[in-house]
Amino acid sequence: MKILVTGGLGFIGSHTVVELQSKGFEVVIIDDLSNSSEKVIDGIVAITGVKPVFEKFDLKEKTKVQDFFKRHSNIAGVIHFAASKAVGESVEKPLLYYENNIGTLVYMLQELSAMQTANFIFSSSCTVYGQADKMPITESAPVKEAESPYGNTKQMGEEIIRDTCKVVPALNAIALRYFNPMGAHPSTEIGELPIGVPQNLVPFITQTGAGIREQLSVFGGDYPTQDGTCIRDYIHVVDLAKAHVVALERLVSGKNSENYEVFNVGTGTGSSVLEAIQSFERVSGKKLNYKIVDRRAGDITAAYADTTKANTVLGWKAESTLDEAMKSAWDWEQKIRK
Ligand code: WQD
Repeated sequence: MKILVTGGLGFIGSHTVVELQSKGFEVVIIDDLSNSSEKVIDGIVAITGVKPVFEKFDLKEKTKVQDFFKRHSNIAGVIHFAASKAVGESVEKPLLYYENNIGTLVYMLQELSAMQTANFIFSSSCTVYGQADKMPITESAPVKEAESPYGNTKQMGEEIIRDTCKVVPALNAIALRYFNPMGAHPSTEIGELPIGVPQNLVPFITQTGAGIREQLSVFGGDYPTQDGTCIRDYIHVVDLAKAHVVALERLVSGKNSENYEVFNVGTGTGSSVLEAIQSFERVSGKKLNYKIVDRRAGDITAAYADTTKANTVLGWKAESTLDEAMKSAWDWEQKIRK
């Protein structure tokens, strides 16, 4: 069964390609390499022994998207990762984000709407909940006004898919709302490759541990949490990748109860920034140089998932602990610095 993975050489995309191939799916990747490298294919081959088909182009080129679907008439499902994801950059360049994330989604859905039957998985985010009123967060929690154009592209993306599914019954879609993905494949063949100074906590921790950054700034020590630092739901990227495969299997086997569904993908456990640092110190045996500084604008106090829906309906559950995920991130960091 042939699956198109857009952004399949990126962080979450590449791990999902591995899980798909391990389950016998045939994978075709489209990636423009804007935030990834063709070398990732070697890592995928090293793990699975299978080389995915790769086409390099930008999904903003609508005629190329149309041409792709003319050449591949037998795509059983699409997992759509390709998007820009830097929150700060999206504030500076909103139109870039709307064009990259919304324009390309529309082109993709236009092609899928013309097919006899189509299955589509969308990368959404817990960012749609903003600061939720109740923890853990269920899928029925209200979607709050987006804090950034990036966050808005995820909210709008969900709405665009939902509206399309209403009028295209042959289109089946699932939006996965990711919490905080981290870690790397245990083989250390693939992992996260942040460009420049990492904005996210875990790569900043591992780079500080590796001596590339001098000190981690912990943004805020006065939040109303048990240790004063923010709480997040850190999920191992391999667990997240597996959630895509089970979501896709639900669609291709026709087991979905509605043609548009939404699932939280997290562990269900909240961890504070200080707990993440302690985890790093445990698995690396190193002391981390960190300092508590002012809060970062736009940060919410806490977000962790109620995963009941994914557990019961998809039959999926995150398996890795924070320490296991942190160890994989640290192993990867050490490998890429060699
Ligand atoms: C985690 C915690 C920081 C860096 C991201 C995306 C968002 C969404 C979820 C996207 C926070 C603290 C961080 C540092 C720190 N998903 N921190 N020092 O903020 O949950 O959001 O993931 O698709 O859009 O931006 O993740 O990793 O940036 O931060 O203290 O140097 O670590 O304040 O509490 P966040 P993060």
